[in-house]
Amino acid sequence: MPFVTTTEMFKKAYDGGYAVGAFNVNNMEIVQGITEAAREQHAPLILQVSKGARAYANHTYLVKLVEAAVIECPDIPIALHLDHGPDFETCKSCIDGGFTSVMIDASSKPFAENIEITRKVVEYAHDHGVVVEAELGSLAGVEDEVNVSAEDSSYTRPEEVEEFVSKTGCDSLAIAIGTSHGAYKFTAAQCTRNEQGVLVPPPLRFDILEEVSRRLPGFPIVLHGSSSVPQEFVKMINENGGRLPDAVGIPEEQLRKAATLSVCKINIDSDLRLAMTGSIRKYFAEHPDHFDPRQYLTPARANIKAIVTHKLIDVLGCAGKA
Ligand code: G3H
Ligand code: 13P
Ligand code: ZN
Repeated sequence: MPFVTTTEMFKKAYDGGYAVGAFNVNNMEIVQGITEAAREQHAPLILQVSKGARAYANHTYLVKLVEAAVIECPDIPIALHLDHGPDFETCKSCIDGGFTSVMIDASSKPFAENIEITRKVVEYAHDHGVVVEAELGSLAGVEDEVNVSAEDSSYTRPEEVEEFVSKTGCDSLAIAIGTSHGAYKFTAAQCTRNEQGVLVPPPLRFDILEEVSRRLPGFPIVLHGSSSVPQEFVKMINENGGRLPDAVGIPEEQLRKAATLSVCKINIDSDLRLAMTGSIRKYFAEHPDHFDPRQYLTPARANIKAIVTHKLIDVLGCAGKA
């Protein structure tokens, strides 16, 4: 199966009550860990590349790695997506350079400007058979010292979504309902602690998601910042020379619920970084005399495969849906 766009994937995901995983890739081991899991689980897959990944690994290397994965995984659909495209030029470069999907992230701009930039990307992308994800609302944790209206202003405003989608023609929409990027999504002050002393974050704003879906029936919604920051990885890192105190993510059961609703794409990067780093730290601690990268990258790749397998089956619900 050649590269695909996300159109068919999202339609099936919307109707089937599951989400497709969008995992960030930066090197060969990450591509292999993710795609081996998706192939085994027969899951549709989005591999996404950020501006930082292109700067680190080079556009051509990343495209060729993903092309290799498509050859190795002939039975599952794979989309290649630009994550957080910052401007028209970056989106154009990825559209011209073999991507099947791009995100234009103009969410920090005023509403009218966001529409204008997004529409320009959509026109170019659609002319080239590529689909576009856009964003409304700014992704952040809950601020603890702001009043309610200021706090709400970082969430997506449902009353804006119909105008935004109809004026831009975007194919999917990322919204802000309380997820955020990285391994520190919330401060300790924004959370409670459970009996084990682990931070429990404030719940996602399902009321906003439901209102957006009511206004955009059948339209695919995207969640960024959806790592759950597995505490076993945080422990593995901290026990082997790392220091990640109070790292906290989005509880998996809330992502599972979102996947049964209109959320068709869930972005996960930090959990894979934690899996890889935890494995490598543990390996170095246990084998101080080893220095062959293949030795420590083998368990790192296996741990990425294991966490992706878990996400596909237990969080996204997309195992067996390819
Ligand atoms: O949303 C951001 C992704 O985790 C990519 O991060 O820009 O450091 O590659 P990056
Ligand atoms: P995490 O940092 O929660 O993994 O989010 C990744 C993401 O949204 C990539 O666009
Ligand atoms: Zn993101």
